[in-house]
Amino acid sequence: MRYTRMPIEIESPEEMGYNTIKYNLAESSLKDINLGDIDVNLKNLVLFYGEHKGIKKLREAIKENSSILTSDDILVTTGAATSLFIVSTTLLNPEDHLIVIRPNYGTNIETPRAINCDISIVDLYFEHDFAIDIQAVRSLIKPSTKLISITNPHNPTGKLFDGHLIKELVVLAEEHNCRLLVDETYRDLNFQTELKPYIAEISPNVISVSSVSKSFGAPGIRIGWLICRDAELMHDFLAAKEQICLCNSVVDEEIAYHLLHNKTAILEKSHAHIRANFEYFKEWFATQKFLEWVEPQSGVVCFPRLKAQYNHVDMEKVYERLYKEYATIVGPGHWFEQDKKYMRIGFGYPSLEELKAGLDNLHHCLIQVAE
Ligand SMILES: Cc1ncc(COP(=O)(O)O)c(C=O)c1O
Repeated sequence: MRYTRMPIEIESPEEMGYNTIKYNLAESSLKDINLGDIDVNLKNLVLFYGEHKGIKKLREAIKENSSILTSDDILVTTGAATSLFIVSTTLLNPEDHLIVIRPNYGTNIETPRAINCDISIVDLYFEHDFAIDIQAVRSLIKPSTKLISITNPHNPTGKLFDGHLIKELVVLAEEHNCRLLVDETYRDLNFQTELKPYIAEISPNVISVSSVSKSFGAPGIRIGWLICRDAELMHDFLAAKEQICLCNSVVDEEIAYHLLHNKTAILEKSHAHIRANFEYFKEWFATQKFLEWVEPQSGVVCFPRLKAQYNHVDMEKVYERLYKEYATIVGPGHWFEQDKKYMRIGFGYPSLEELKAGLDNLHHCLIQVAE
């Protein structure tokens, strides 16, 4: 495998230095929590090797009240990132074929590239409301297709793909004896409609992935998971995990359990915050002149772009000035292999005050560079 560092990681706020950024509109998560803010007592925790699949009470909490999933259908990993790595490296060899929806979270494309497998990309277009073209996916299937990869709720557009479309993709995977990977890392940030069960419930051909990073503001404990009802495949995934890290940090698992155990109360509070910020964001968007968007439906990000009449604007300059003069950042399009006139704006991480100031900064910076 040949690894390449991705722009989204090289230019990430944590790599640039959080202390250089005052208005962080680049994050796709909620604000990071403090360990002191949660009532978890780790004093008596034995620091042994944890259960390889992940501590049972955590896996039970992950499966929620599902009557279909069992705790053996769940593998805890170091963040969703490791789940995605395990899925790609277990299912894909250089002679295998993958269909992946783009834009996407970098790893969903970059790890298959590192494996050097045969990749077909299905792009989502602003002009088509970032809808997945199912016919395009269908037409790309080959005998060597092992995996179809989507993210839902979608990063960076904030789209929530329709249940019928998801079902069609599941059927397609079943018919062609391949797997559907659904990166559901943003599922608990679904603040406008009812939370649906994990898509892995529908079929053993589906692998769902999620984590506590985005919805619980706890990316630093590195706890994520994958879910699949195919016991043989889960055995292979466990073998991969054992070769990468054996088990998770038991400290991280205990904290993640605490968060999931208190999920209802935590999410109620964070959804109220997201709704308030989103209401403001929509008002701001309606009155500004430079950008157009496909309004996001779920999660805390959207992917607007410059209106065509401003295509002359040097976006490199905008991003540089925004950071250096306004201590403000957004996620530029090239993080997602898109043109720099697109940008991901995260509206859940900042406080309402920070969001207001950050959006104003973006507006003033666009005026300065454009006019
Ligand atoms: C769609 C998606 N999947 C996975 C990840 C990785 O998350 P984690 O911190 O759980 O590894 C991210 C992080 O940005 C993401 O956006």
